[in-house]
Amino acid sequence: MISIAIMGYGTIGSGVYQVLTANREIITRRVGEEIGIKYVLDLRDFPGDPVEDVLVHDVEVIMNDPEVSIVVEVMGGVEPAYTYVKRALLAGKSVVTSNKALVAAHGTELIEIARKDEKNFLFEASVGGAIPIIRPLYKSLPSEDFLEITGILNGTTNYMLTKMSQEGVTYDAVLAEAQAKGFAERDPSADVDGWDACRKIAILSSLAYEKVANYEEIPTEGISKITPIDFRYAKKMNMAIKLLASSWKEEDGIHARVCPALIGPDHPLFMVNGVFNAILVRGNMAGDIMFYGSGAGSLPTASAVVGDIIDAAKHPLRNIPISWGKEKLVLGDASKESARFFMRVSGTPEDRAGELTALFGDLDIIMLPTIHDEFGIVTEELSETRVEAAKEDLPGLLAVYRIRS
Ligand code: HSE
Repeated sequence: MISIAIMGYGTIGSGVYQVLTANREIITRRVGEEIGIKYVLDLRDFPGDPVEDVLVHDVEVIMNDPEVSIVVEVMGGVEPAYTYVKRALLAGKSVVTSNKALVAAHGTELIEIARKDEKNFLFEASVGGAIPIIRPLYKSLPSEDFLEITGILNGTTNYMLTKMSQEGVTYDAVLAEAQAKGFAERDPSADVDGWDACRKIAILSSLAYEKVANYEEIPTEGISKITPIDFRYAKKMNMAIKLLASSWKEEDGIHARVCPALIGPDHPLFMVNGVFNAILVRGNMAGDIMFYGSGAGSLPTASAVVGDIIDAAKHPLRNIPISWGKEKLVLGDASKESARFFMRVSGTPEDRAGELTALFGDLDIIMLPTIHDEFGIVTEELSETRVEAAKEDLPGLLAVYRIRS
């Protein structure tokens, strides 16, 4: 019997219990030994719940029990998760986590502690829920030079953007509905301001480029300024608005950005709707590879957590090498990036086309049927610097989106 402890009995912790229980036979066969939940740590009591008998409130019980060889951290947040995980690793236990905030902030140190002691720190569930993406990057595609990773990495915002697109509702209305249904948190800022997606692309970038990406340095915009009119233009152009988290190679180094962007039907992420996540990985030899599935939720996330528990159980005395470097990833100069842009501008093309062409070069004009006091333009490829300058000076600039292909 391999004894494990689960720290946190919330949405994911209870899912881990369910997966281990429902698939016990399969898991035992695949590991070659049974995995037993010796403790579940939570501050709360759960009278009548199946975990009642193994519930503990004191983390010391887990830390001091040498029988516990794998600790599962599914509490979320940086503290006390970081302190507990570090202690568990230093106590010679392997750790499995779903916690992207922890991995983005302390992954380098925790991976190194595990490596030195031939233990494992595994975090497949921290990005993309059930979607295998962490392990493919370090294990299945080690021959690749990764040129780009672009993902829809946040289910909450993808659900909201899909609703706004399909039903023409406002951001505030869809947020209220998502909160009522439990898809969005009461404080939704980590999702809607892009920070959840930002941490996830930082984790994927650290693996793909083998240098540690600091999520705080990645330019990040959220979705709160997107309006129903923006979606009307997008539809007119047969495009979708998606919150894309990307990193890619350019001549001056790796660039990364999280922002809402317009993509056309040729883009592999165009059809990714609702709470689903997807990640496009572009390798120099393999070409484009798409990963798609449930990026959040109790059982999908728990499935990935249990996958890591199984891997840790099968490697009790050996560290599984993870391609996460120690050096810092210095990002390329974001102001030198370029893209085609869509912009909404007040006034009429007759009045403003000359001024806009002088600023941006050749343009396509997009008009909406019932709206006469504004119009849209699609630019040629422009530098970020040029567009930033225009944002300062251009009167009546109502919205700006990058177009990604
Ligand atoms: N808040 C996250 C999302 C949960 O909506 O995708 C999964 O990390």
